[in-house]
Amino acid sequence: MAYARIEIAPSILAANFTNLGDEIRTVEEAGADVIHVDIMDGHFVPNLSLGIPVVASLRKATRLPLDVHLMIEQPELYIEEFIRAGASRVLVHQEATAHLDRALAMIRELGAEAGAVINPATPVGMLSEVLDKVDTILVMTVNPGFGGQKFIPNSYEKIRQLNQIRARYNASFRIEVDGGVEPENTAALAQAGANTFVAGTSIFHTADPAAATRQLKKLATQALSQKA
Ligand code: DX5
Ligand code: ZN
Repeated sequence: MAYARIEIAPSILAANFTNLGDEIRTVEEAGADVIHVDIMDGHFVPNLSLGIPVVASLRKATRLPLDVHLMIEQPELYIEEFIRAGASRVLVHQEATAHLDRALAMIRELGAEAGAVINPATPVGMLSEVLDKVDTILVMTVNPGFGGQKFIPNSYEKIRQLNQIRARYNASFRIEVDGGVEPENTAALAQAGANTFVAGTSIFHTADPAAATRQLKKLATQALSQKA
């Protein structure tokens, strides 16, 4: 398979913003694979977060890929700027654009990896026509907009469906999960087919973010090897 089997993607939304460089170094040294960056516009989701200058600063602070999750309406208007600022992967919501195919093509043409995201109430089938146009499919496991929410259990079935589709078509997209990911559900998520584990609260709101990163990676990797 072309996709990485397991990746841990700390979400900086839960980090200490006055100390972002150190927060990132800590998780990077602990084996984080990707840094997840949440962009919110106050329209698509009822919250505001960070923007292009922060992505540009992050690009200088780490060598890890930057996984930029656009929770914004009409993401195609900003894709180019985010990639210029240093986004390695750009994830756009199916629900946020009437032109998903165009947005995904734009991301790849500009040299980044393309991801499509579905909200908890959006079925997997909504992405049936773009399966060969994505490097990642992100299944939201909470309603987007805030960190620290409770994982929605229906997500397991969606991940399983995507995993089956991936096998059936011999496709190579990663399956990413975001929201309420914690040690208690990580093994089950890996067994269902998840590869990329976004975690904010369960990493940065602990006494030892490095240990939390290592623990999530170990749980996911072990679950996968037990399954194999
Ligand atoms: C929520 C964001 C998440 C958020 C996850 O809309 O997309 O990336 O940071 O936070 P936790 O891990 O705390 O649920
Ligand atoms: Zn996110």
